[in-house]
Amino acid sequence: MRTFAHMSEIENFNDFKLKLKILSDELDGIEVLSPESLEQFRIKYIGAKNIFKDFGPMLKSISNEFKKDAGQSLNQIKDRAEGLFQSWQEKFVSDTTKTFLTFDSSAPGYSFETGSRHPISIVLNQIIDIFKRIGFTIAEDREIEDDWHNFTALNTPDDHPARDMQDTFYIKDSAQYLLRTHTSPVQARVMTREKPPIRIIAPGRVYRNETVSARSHCQFHQVEGLYVDEGVSFADMKQTLLYYAREQYGPDVKIRLRPSFFPFTEPSAEMDVYYGLADETAHRITKGTGWLEILGCGMVDPVVLENCGIDSTKYSGFAFGMGIERQVLIKYNVPDIRMLFENDVRFLKQFKGL
Ligand code: PHE
Repeated sequence: MRTFAHMSEIENFNDFKLKLKILSDELDGIEVLSPESLEQFRIKYIGAKNIFKDFGPMLKSISNEFKKDAGQSLNQIKDRAEGLFQSWQEKFVSDTTKTFLTFDSSAPGYSFETGSRHPISIVLNQIIDIFKRIGFTIAEDREIEDDWHNFTALNTPDDHPARDMQDTFYIKDSAQYLLRTHTSPVQARVMTREKPPIRIIAPGRVYRNETVSARSHCQFHQVEGLYVDEGVSFADMKQTLLYYAREQYGPDVKIRLRPSFFPFTEPSAEMDVYYGLADETAHRITKGTGWLEILGCGMVDPVVLENCGIDSTKYSGFAFGMGIERQVLIKYNVPDIRMLFENDVRFLKQFKGL
């Protein structure tokens, strides 16, 4: 009996060790990657009903001879599970803490400085507003134009100085394409595409190879205007431009129309607005006359109408092209056109709210 009992004690002990070994292998294979799987681990190996509790009754049945060994093995594996749990917990807790440190939903927000519109956009919007009120719609087109629309369709002969390499930026290797020198090509495009009545304004950027100075730049903005219908007269043009000047500069504004020449209008004129001679800047900007030219205008030349497929015996029209930068100088008393392109926020900030 003694021998038999002894054998069963050994078997008991071996069985116990085998079960622990299986558990130990299981622990080796566990990878905890999320707080959720850590919680599952905790419940199984650490919690009140952990798996090691099942070994309690088994341990009791093991003979005194092997009990110490068995107990130590059990404690070892328990400690290992505890250690694993702690290291994973630290990892996840510190991750969570980090998240809290970088995102505090109760902290006051960062304040962003609001920008302001560029003065060119401000004046452009004013121009658009004014012409919209008297029925003009907006037409926009490309900045890289072809020779036909920029010059030829507009009755600008081959030997016209505006075509000169000095005045015009051509696209490399092609005299066919260029950076438009004015917004007038939009006239040609609209008249070719649409039939009268036509009443549009065309804002946009234009380019000329000019020497940069206080009143001129090699890139600037224009707004083209075009009105074609039956019986449109020079008086209509004059009244439209006077209306514009009064809306833009106030009812007391002084304007003057000077005879001028453009290949695509006949007769042609330039319109000046009185700027004054109050200080040295005014002298410089107006070349000592007090007047600043803001636009060119005229009756659309019949040749241009015909070039665009419009019957010049039936229809007539007027056109104008105004510079925006110069009007910014007058309206906001800016002493130098170059300030509009320097992007100095100390300058631009002053237009906040306009
Ligand atoms: N395109 C002319 C210029 O840039 C201005 C203009 C437009 C003149 C329309 C007459 C008619 O100087």
